[in-house]
Amino acid sequence: MTKKKLRSQEWYGRTGKDGFIYRSWMKNQGLPHHLFEGEKPVIGICNTWSELTPCNAHFRDLAEALKRGIWEAGGFPLEFPVMSLGECSIKPTAMLFRNLASMDVEESIRANPMDGVVLMCGCDKTTPSLVMGAASVDIPAMVLSSGPMLVGRFKGKKIGTSDIWRFAEDFKLGKLSQEEFIEAEAAMSRSVGHCAPMGTASTMAAMVEALGLALPDNATIPAADSRRKVLAHMTGMRIVELVKEDIKMSQILTRNAFENAIMVNAAVGGSTNFILHLTAIAKRIGVELDLTDFDYFSSKIPLIANVQPSGEYWVEDLFYAGGLPAVMREIEKHLHRDALTVNGKTIGENIAKAECWDRNLIGTLDNPIKPESGIAVLKGNLCPNGAVLKPSAATPNLLVHTGRAVVFENIDDYKAKVDDPNLDIDETCVMVMKNVGPKGYPGMPEVGNMGLPKKLLEQGVKDMVRISDGRMSGTGFGTVVLHVSPESAIGGPLAFVQNGDMISLDVPNRTLNLLISEEEFEKRRIGFIPTQLPYERGYVNLFLDKVNQAHEGVDFDFLQGSSGSEVKRDSH
Ligand code: FES
Repeated sequence: MTKKKLRSQEWYGRTGKDGFIYRSWMKNQGLPHHLFEGEKPVIGICNTWSELTPCNAHFRDLAEALKRGIWEAGGFPLEFPVMSLGECSIKPTAMLFRNLASMDVEESIRANPMDGVVLMCGCDKTTPSLVMGAASVDIPAMVLSSGPMLVGRFKGKKIGTSDIWRFAEDFKLGKLSQEEFIEAEAAMSRSVGHCAPMGTASTMAAMVEALGLALPDNATIPAADSRRKVLAHMTGMRIVELVKEDIKMSQILTRNAFENAIMVNAAVGGSTNFILHLTAIAKRIGVELDLTDFDYFSSKIPLIANVQPSGEYWVEDLFYAGGLPAVMREIEKHLHRDALTVNGKTIGENIAKAECWDRNLIGTLDNPIKPESGIAVLKGNLCPNGAVLKPSAATPNLLVHTGRAVVFENIDDYKAKVDDPNLDIDETCVMVMKNVGPKGYPGMPEVGNMGLPKKLLEQGVKDMVRISDGRMSGTGFGTVVLHVSPESAIGGPLAFVQNGDMISLDVPNRTLNLLISEEEFEKRRIGFIPTQLPYERGYVNLFLDKVNQAHEGVDFDFLQGSSGSEVKRDSH
């Protein structure tokens, strides 16, 4: 059998002037000539390390463990930085820049001499942006995730990101002082790693493990646990073999792999952001996937992992109880067991020996943590292209509810009015926020689980139906309808809701309707004036021009699909 020439040899295997230029400057790093001779696969390490992305701030260290594995297996590692999106700091929202980061990743991989790539992902958007970008190039690739931080401790209690929403309510009610709030900050974030609950970061790490893009246990080993470095080392060793076996992303990312990921997301009570990111990845790799798939495949699966925000514990605890392989084993009769993964084994083989060590953490199909999980996809005259709700994070008796709309025209209107004692609202009302969709904000921020009015919190109200075209943090909870599509800023029906209208939510029947006549609807539609979007230059201008809607993954229309890994022109 003839050995396939490595892609990197299109650069380093050249003679004459071209070869000189491609190799010479690399040698200023002290790299000996034999590394360029084509025997060692060049492995790119796509690193999202940044001190502004604290969830990934340990990645320099983790990359060293990864390199050790690559060297040991006979590869040649070359690390490169890409745009890193820190969820907690970026304004107006990291989601605005997910597509930009994915373009950085895609072009960095395609333009450079690498045979395979390891994607170092952690904080929420760093996973989808890297996977989307790499999928559009389609070379052998693996994901190495950050791992969750250790669970926080505050006043004798375990805490994590989901507690921020509870603290915020206590602060509003005067039960928690500013000094206590500051104390809780350090108590919550006491180790390296990403958010401790099954927020979006952990959801994304579970997604890549379920898709088969990462080694088993990638999703749950804590960042501070030495076994995270072992995993990095093993990932480094394996990517070299993956290149030799020439297994590309498109061979892993099949329709069956996507269906597995949807089922696993339901089993762990994963974030609603999963829908947007998985849809975008599917469209990059050319797999058909739409909103109804999320409802169909997740409806078979109850909540198996007892992890916040849907359950009680933390991702760290889930690792000690058996990790994601043990969760997947509980639902294996539903999974496509023959889906190939990056370690060369199938999902079925990877989970065959997984064991559960703690039934408080991992339920079974017969005795789940909660009977309903996954994603409910709603349709109706308020959301012709769909809206979503996470039943496991909602209040059961609000899942069928009709209430009077209290409308906030945008986030500023909400902030100005929500705590006004004269706001005409009670706990039966439906809170509606407009203009927080992909174009309206812009960037579709995580404001959909808008806080309840202070006067209702004082009465002990814990949850209300809330509807918006925005997103919700993966650590958030409540009876919250999100991702209403099309969004209000472009004339979606949400734009026509007025104070006092009645809205009917029926999750079992998957409907969301504004209870006004068709004539009234038309009258309001004719009078609609689109929101003025005050961005005239730069990336945000491109975003507003090219972004698609929530049900399509909020990607740019021109980024869907793959351009492959070939570069036809040379640089000199
Ligand atoms: Fe980075 Fe939560 S802020 S994962």
